[in-house]
Amino acid sequence: MKNRGTALCLVAIFLILSATLLFSCAKKEETIKIGVAGPMTGDQSKMGIDIKNGTELAVKEWNQKGGVLGKKIELLVEDDQHDPKQAVSVANKLVNAGAAGIIGHFNSSASIPASSVYSRAKIPMITPASTNPQLTEQGFTNVFRICGRDDQQGLAAATFVTEVLKLKKVSVLHDKTTYGQGLADEFVKALGNRVEVVYYNGIIQGDKDFRAVLTALKGKGAELLYFGGIYPEGGLIIKQARELGINIPLMSGDGVIDPKFIEIAGTASEGSYLTFSPDTKNLPSAKGFLSSYSSGYGEPGPYSIYAYDAANVLLHAIDTAKSTGGPAISKAIHEMKHTGALGGLQWDAKGDILQSPYVVWITRNGKFEEYWKPGEAIQ
Ligand code: ALA
Repeated sequence: MKNRGTALCLVAIFLILSATLLFSCAKKEETIKIGVAGPMTGDQSKMGIDIKNGTELAVKEWNQKGGVLGKKIELLVEDDQHDPKQAVSVANKLVNAGAAGIIGHFNSSASIPASSVYSRAKIPMITPASTNPQLTEQGFTNVFRICGRDDQQGLAAATFVTEVLKLKKVSVLHDKTTYGQGLADEFVKALGNRVEVVYYNGIIQGDKDFRAVLTALKGKGAELLYFGGIYPEGGLIIKQARELGINIPLMSGDGVIDPKFIEIAGTASEGSYLTFSPDTKNLPSAKGFLSSYSSGYGEPGPYSIYAYDAANVLLHAIDTAKSTGGPAISKAIHEMKHTGALGGLQWDAKGDILQSPYVVWITRNGKFEEYWKPGEAIQ
């Protein structure tokens, strides 16, 4: 009897252990993971957090509807600190964690090296914000962007400078990154021989004092200072330019159009021209996003809506492919016509978005306002 009792006890323990094991395995299988990566800490963290928030909002909405393929979605957030090496390291981490797809990165200098990691693992990556042309010129079938490219952005800036402002001399600074230098060079290329570049130089990202280059460009006769880079340096450059008595307007791109730029530069930011996409407040398709985002996270940043659409595209593709296999998801994105908060989204064979209009914004009364659309008169 005693032996029978012990045997029953052992069987019970065995059954409990097996059930626990089965349950924990089943639990591990329960979620579909997706990653979001960008500069989550440091001087560009405003952009990283915007992208994280936009992605998180999309994930929450899908989870409220039951998730995807019958499973809840789990968001893995990684900080690349806008550092190319760190970007590769977090890309490997996300691949090893089993992410089905990635939203990110923010900086082209992070997205390009990370894209090789995702490509080897055949995992789709959708960047909301990396605009350097090289990203989608690598021949990868798993790389997509929601934003435009710097050959388009540089051309829009050059068209504005030559045809609207009708300037003859400009100075150009860049932050020596893939994005910053790339954008500055696209701008110069698009100016052609219509405008003289009287000063061209690179600055160091992270520096706080740009008085030496500003002093060097002062007196060269430039009518505008073009900057390829991000808002921490952009804000300080125009602030210090004004302190040195340089009174020409600043022009820059999507890396600078954030309220942080105005916060850093103060009144020196007034009259700066920035290329970016048209105001989403005028898009009927963006209404739902703008209200949900604002109630959850406050004022959306420039790339919040791009991240939201990127995450919806990824989840929509998983749903359509009925699979979490990378190649199946990438194929679904290539074939997809997605109706997002930004409107209708579709990609070419390279992974570039079919439509990415650039307009010129101006900083006025401490706010950004849409100012000029190619082919239209000034607002
Ligand atoms: N558009 C910027 C980049 O590509 C953010 O780095």
